[in-house]
Amino acid sequence: MKLPRRKFLKWLSMGAVSAYWGLLTSCDDKKNNNTAVFARKYPLKVPSASQGGLLGYFRPQSSFSISVTPSYFSILPGANTPGLAYVVQDGGKTYVNPTLVVPSGGQLSVTMQNGLAEKTIIHWHGLLLDWLQDGHPYYSAPSGGNYSYNFSVPNRSGLYFYHPHPHGRTGYQVYHGLSGLMIVEDTDELNLRNQLQLTLGETDIPLLLQDRNFNSDNTFLYNPLGPNGNMGVWGEVPLVNFTPWPYLEVRRRIYRFRLLGGANSRPYRLVLLKGNQKQSFHLIGVEGGLLDKPYLVDEIFLAPAERADILIDFRNFQVGDVVRLYNLAHNLVPSGMNPVINSEFEVLEFRITQDDTYTASVPQSLSTLGSLSTSGATTVSLPLQGGQGTFTIGGLQWDSTNPLKDYGLNFNNNQVVIFEFTNSTGMYHPMHLHGPTFQVLRRQNSPQVISTLAQKLNDGTGRMVTDLGWKDTVIVAAGETVQIAMKMQNPGPSSPQYYLLHCHILEHHDAGMMIQYTVT
Ligand code: C2O
Ligand code: CU
Ligand code: CU
Repeated sequence: MKLPRRKFLKWLSMGAVSAYWGLLTSCDDKKNNNTAVFARKYPLKVPSASQGGLLGYFRPQSSFSISVTPSYFSILPGANTPGLAYVVQDGGKTYVNPTLVVPSGGQLSVTMQNGLAEKTIIHWHGLLLDWLQDGHPYYSAPSGGNYSYNFSVPNRSGLYFYHPHPHGRTGYQVYHGLSGLMIVEDTDELNLRNQLQLTLGETDIPLLLQDRNFNSDNTFLYNPLGPNGNMGVWGEVPLVNFTPWPYLEVRRRIYRFRLLGGANSRPYRLVLLKGNQKQSFHLIGVEGGLLDKPYLVDEIFLAPAERADILIDFRNFQVGDVVRLYNLAHNLVPSGMNPVINSEFEVLEFRITQDDTYTASVPQSLSTLGSLSTSGATTVSLPLQGGQGTFTIGGLQWDSTNPLKDYGLNFNNNQVVIFEFTNSTGMYHPMHLHGPTFQVLRRQNSPQVISTLAQKLNDGTGRMVTDLGWKDTVIVAAGETVQIAMKMQNPGPSSPQYYLLHCHILEHHDAGMMIQYTVT
């Protein structure tokens, strides 16, 4: 049986499934598959602290420009992959998707120049900004246009990121390469780095987790599944920092990895394995920065837009050992449609190659979280519904003809609001809110992959450890009810502020699974 690629996908998306895997090699001749090309592994691309380049650390000293431009990535062996990149020229260096390093309270003054053939806008994911600085799709710049940002970063230390937000095109643009990281630094952060003797780009390394499909000429194959892309896009090639099947050589000491769930649709269910044995590591932070203290874990979820700041102590292993960050079947999406959705694979291989005289140990405490009192809070129920092509939030969908539309969610500065998401669709949705970070209050009716982790945390709320701390994205699994609490903030000067609330499966929000709220 030989189907051309297009027909093959259509056939898949119609739900004619199960024997798919056996057929893959014969049907799917146009695409690079795991076997031959990936018999070997590739050294992880680690951002450079001084040389610029891909994901290189960049500490802006004054105003600068980012051009959003067609570019090439070296990903697979052979031909470069044409894609789209954020390029910054500064001090004689060229940065591609630079990792911005900014002190908390520091100023960012940046002009985006749109060199794409279509509209785009940059969103600073996780920062609490005036909505004119936030990258609302309303302010998308046309091809050849630009947009200037000027703001100070009010957030706690943590791993934030930036990506396009033009309505309807976010999934496509991110998939083709547009994603950059931002590290915000404050005293807690600098103390931690000091205590653990961590060096950016050496022992403190960001990991941008993505998945992609490629055509046989190494071009990106963007093929969302389902009507209107409603199953999202699921790649067969795992990438970390744009490296396929990566490995990293490490010494026997503590390393810090700051993970971003950067896939368009895929949630990762991450474990650290030596052979088949799960190994423990520490979770020290999430989207809104450090947790109060380190939590010892052996499995975490990382959905699109979620961040996990982790410490791995390689002194638990011997020189010559190999341990692997591995993705288990997540079971959050019915995979009947395509086994790639729920596939298990290695994310990153660590090779312990050197001893070290390191003696530091994981600190007892990290930061003060502050709490959010929910007495007198307003509760807003937002059912997640739909399935045939589009999903809705509270029965509503994004109206692209009216970007300032009132969705009935209008709040005042300092008002505490509890949002309750109840998911009656057949798949999970990682729900994200622009504006202030929030706290997850409780989960109910969780599927087993989540309730198992909740039992490990066992604090009576049904939450997983990755639900602790200040969050900007929360997994809502099929059948689940999840409550979050948020203290509304208007950072000024605009009034009201328009903040988006959407699913971070990019094909979902492109298809309209997005609304907004205002803060006056
Ligand atoms: Cu990263 Cu509106 O989101
Ligand atoms: Cu965002
Ligand atoms: Cu969704």
